[in-house]
Amino acid sequence: MKKYVYAIAGVIVLAQFIRPSKIAEPLDNAVDLIAVTKPSAEIADVLRTSCYDCHSGQPRYPWYASITPVNWWINQHIKEGREHFDATTWGTVENWSRDHQAKEGVEMMDQKEMPLKSYLWQHADAKLSDSQYQQLSDWFQGLRDGSWDVEKARRKAAGELN
Ligand code: HEC
Repeated sequence: MKKYVYAIAGVIVLAQFIRPSKIAEPLDNAVDLIAVTKPSAEIADVLRTSCYDCHSGQPRYPWYASITPVNWWINQHIKEGREHFDATTWGTVENWSRDHQAKEGVEMMDQKEMPLKSYLWQHADAKLSDSQYQQLSDWFQGLRDGSWDVEKARRKAAGELN
């Protein structure tokens, strides 16, 4: 039994030498979501505190993010999160992509699906009140220009969507 405990401990120690690099991209005020859309200070705060850790290139890593395999798990969240909604490339993508992200933002806020539950266990300050969910939902709605609906219709007509 002791043998196994040592073996597992050994694997954990060795695994510490395999660390993915942390994501730390420069903040570009010409294209960053908050810089471009200039929301109220309160909304900007909520976005930074509750969303940017998974939806931007400037996540704040907690100390335990240095531990393998937690670091892989966190980086995976950021990678997946940014594939759907990315504050850092906001000003570089097509209008329809921004419109689509804003539409999903409204849905996520209305359903209170974000921030992820697993994240809130560790980040009490990132919890949103009902009124903050409503404010964020309204704000995302205000970013919409309907161009995603047009793009979606085009894709449907072209048979690219069913
Ligand atoms: C702990 C990481 C994490 C945090 C914090 C977080 N998200 Fe996400 N978010 C994800 C991941 C992972 C996905 C993609 C998978 C999924 O939809 O669950 C995602 C998906 C999304 C999507 C796309 C949904 C879709 O179906 O296309 C939106 C919009 C979004 N998040 C908005 C937000 C907003 C707004 C906040 C802050 C209030 C936030 N997220 C906070 C991890 C996070």
